Amino acid sequence: MTQAERRAALEAIAAEVRTCTRCRLADGRTNAVPGEGSPDTEVVLIGEGPGFNEDRLGRPFIGRAGDLLTKLLGSIEWRRDDVFITNVVKCRPPDNRDPEPDEVAACAPYLKRQLEVIDPALIVTLGRHSMGRFMPGARISQAHGTTGPVDPASGAQDATVFAMYHPAAALRGAEVERQSFEDIGLAPRVLLDARARRAAAPATTTRPADLVAPESPAAADPAAELAPVMALDADPRALDAADLTIF
Ligand code: URA
Ligand code: SF4
Repeated sequence: MTQAERRAALEAIAAEVRTCTRCRLADGRTNAVPGEGSPDTEVVLIGEGPGFNEDRLGRPFIGRAGDLLTKLLGSIEWRRDDVFITNVVKCRPPDNRDPEPDEVAACAPYLKRQLEVIDPALIVTLGRHSMGRFMPGARISQAHGTTGPVDPASGAQDATVFAMYHPAAALRGAEVERQSFEDIGLAPRVLLDARARRAAAPATTTRPADLVAPESPAAADPAAELAPVMALDADPRALDAADLTIF
């Protein structure tokens, strides 16, 4: 797909989302929030669902949690426009309650189609609801800052998932905030590894290189061996330490 085709396909999905009535969340919304960002990106960030501010403006992550997300991205010199940002459910749950399983199921085809169009190398999950879609059974307290393979049934054909705390959780606790900055600091290297994995696979696509900092040795020398930063094959389901259950 060309960039223009991707953009048009994402806009077609967004238009459907804006008028969607597939679940009860349609009743309470002001605006559906399809997601936004670069149609050409290698990186998709996925939150839980729109909050108050997002519902008012129809854009993802624009409230306080969004400001922190923008700062987190800024700390690794990524801009919001360089990535694609969306949510598991596209309409605001009343009083910011958790989305119900039937609402998540009703909305899932939109996320799947967005992932099919973008075909990202890296999916960053924000919070446990989003993580649960890509790392079933994982606990956020253990899985944040780690990666895993993405099931192609998600729509993303050849992607790596990287779990992070939800920025709203980081707003509520200094330790989670500190950890979130530490975790996002791993993202450029995780992207390099994800890209290298895809390049080794038969179906290779060429994407812009601007999300990897030029000072990164592997970016300067693509032949440089990519050190594994984290346990790609650690099974989060094996981890049973206490779950903080914040997002
Ligand atoms: N929280 C989310 O999960 N998503 C948003 O878009 C905003 C806040
Ligand atoms: Fe449709 Fe998703 Fe909104 Fe439910 S949350 S009405 S499925 S767009």
